[in-house]
Formats: sequence, structure tokens, C-alpha cells
Amino acid sequence: MTDDVLIERPDAAPQVQVIRFNRPAKKNAITRTMYAKMAQALKSADESPWIRATAFLGTEGCFSAGNDMVDFLAFAMGGSLGIEVLDFLHALAGAQKPVVSGVDGLAIGIGTTIHLHCDLTIASDRSVFRTPFVDLALVPEAASSLIAPRVMGHQRAFALLVAGEPFSAAEAREAGLIWRVTRPEEVEAETLALAARLAAKPPEALKIARDLMRGSGEDVSGRIAREAAHFGAQLKSDEARAAFEAFMKR
Ligand code: COA
Repeated sequence: MTDDVLIERPDAAPQVQVIRFNRPAKKNAITRTMYAKMAQALKSADESPWIRATAFLGTEGCFSAGNDMVDFLAFAMGGSLGIEVLDFLHALAGAQKPVVSGVDGLAIGIGTTIHLHCDLTIASDRSVFRTPFVDLALVPEAASSLIAPRVMGHQRAFALLVAGEPFSAAEAREAGLIWRVTRPEEVEAETLALAARLAAKPPEALKIARDLMRGSGEDVSGRIAREAAHFGAQLKSDEARAAFEAFMKR
């Protein structure tokens, strides 16, 4: 399987699984095989008696530039968001154990919306969150159209998801998208320390508390499916194809 995303699962404490984007030459853009590997990792963590938390990390200066554009063109041919993407989104939204993330730099598209499913996110002060869905003639995904307005209120969610306005780390924290802002060199250590602290807590109490706060998740999985239907239809549109080709030719 691909090394473009690395899964680290230590035998010794902390009982934290790390999912690390590792495709810096392509700004950690996420391909179908990367989604498949991440979905598998999330499901394995849920089934593992050892792993108690998962942490997402990127590389220096880049969390992720979002879905791979070449894959978007391929999806456009097929007329639907790839099954691997949906499988990942459902695994993430339904994760049974805490998920944290650490962002340094670029966080675009799913690189931003992923944090709406994380329990805690730490970002460096140079991070930028942006979702150019509508500019690409696409629509919000990952149930962001449901969760972001709840978290941020309509105006900030609209600015992020529809207007495609960039959010600095400070703005993202103020909007409730992320928890804390730190210096770039501290992101990884702080994220892993945070995950380790969660992993050291009584697991049953942690699970109950987390489940109570997150609810049943039925609305979230329903929204992922509803968005995906629109996303698939838009992928086939001339306006989307023109946007992908413009990116390829730039
Ligand atoms: N899919 C595929 N490849 C991507 C990518 C993506 N989402 N984002 C960046 N890359 C690739 C570029 O094609 C380039 O590859 P190349 O060196 O082989 O030409 C490489 O990553 C570096 O990107 P580049 O654009 O040269 O870097 P930059 O610092 O000038 O800009 C971004 C970085 C992320 C702002 C810019 O690449 C971008 O806008 N990417 C698209 C983001 C996006 O719209 N994602 C989908 C969201 S729904």
C-alpha cells in the first residue's frame, strides 16, 4: 500500500495511532489509495483493544491541499465521489475513539473539513484554512454543510464553505473550528502530548462522555450521503471540469 500516508501504531504507551500525510511534493493532496489506507486505520483503531486515540498530522508547512485534483478529474468521468472517499468520511465521522489533529500551514478542502470531526485540533500560527468548493464548481463535503454552521454560525460557515474565504489560525480558533494555536515547531509535540493525555484517561468514561457530546451521528452520516449526491452531480458538470483543467494547466 502507499507510503503517501503513514500509519504509526506503537507497541508501547502512549496508545496513540498516528495518521501522517506524507506526500509533501504534492502538498499532501489525498488520493483514493490514501483515503483507503486512512479508513482502514480508523476502523482498525476502533477494533483494537490497544489503541485509544488517533492523531492526524501533516508535514512541515502543509497539513493537506485537499482531494487530489487528478482524482477529481477521474471522479468526474465516473460521475461520483470515489467509494474510498465516502468510506473514509463515514469511518472518520463514526470513529469510536478520540481523534485529534495537528496542523502546520496549508489546510485546504478536506484538509480543513476533517477538523470538524476531530475532538481537538492544534494549529500553528502560520496555518491557513480554506475550502474553495464553490470556486471549483463543487459543494461542501464531509457533512461540513451541517456541522460548520452549528459550530461557527451561518455567516462564518458561509464565508468558509461557500465564499471560500481563507481563515487564519486565529480566525479558525475564534470560529471554533480548532482548539489552540501554537508555534510551528510545537505543533507535533503538542498534538501528540494531547493525544497521549486522552489515551491515558479511563477509556470507558472517555467513550461515554464523548458519545454523549457527539450524539448518534445519524444526521451527520445522512448529510455526508446527501452532499455526496450533489458533489457527484457537480463533478460531471462542465463548470467543474473547466475548473480542474484550469488547475492542471496553470
Ligand atoms: N491535487 C493534486 N496535486 C496538487 C494539489 C491537489 N489538490 N495541490 C497541490 N498539488 C501539487 C501541484 O500540482 C504541484 O505539483 P507539481 O510540482 O508536480 O506541479 C505541487 O503540488 C505543488 O503545488 P503548487 O501549486 O506548485 O504549490 P503552491 O505553494 O504554489 O500552492 C496550493 C499550493 C495548495 C495553494 C495550490 O497547489 C492549490 O491551490 N492546490 C489546489 C487546492 C485545492 O483546490 N484542493 C481541492 C479542495 S476541494
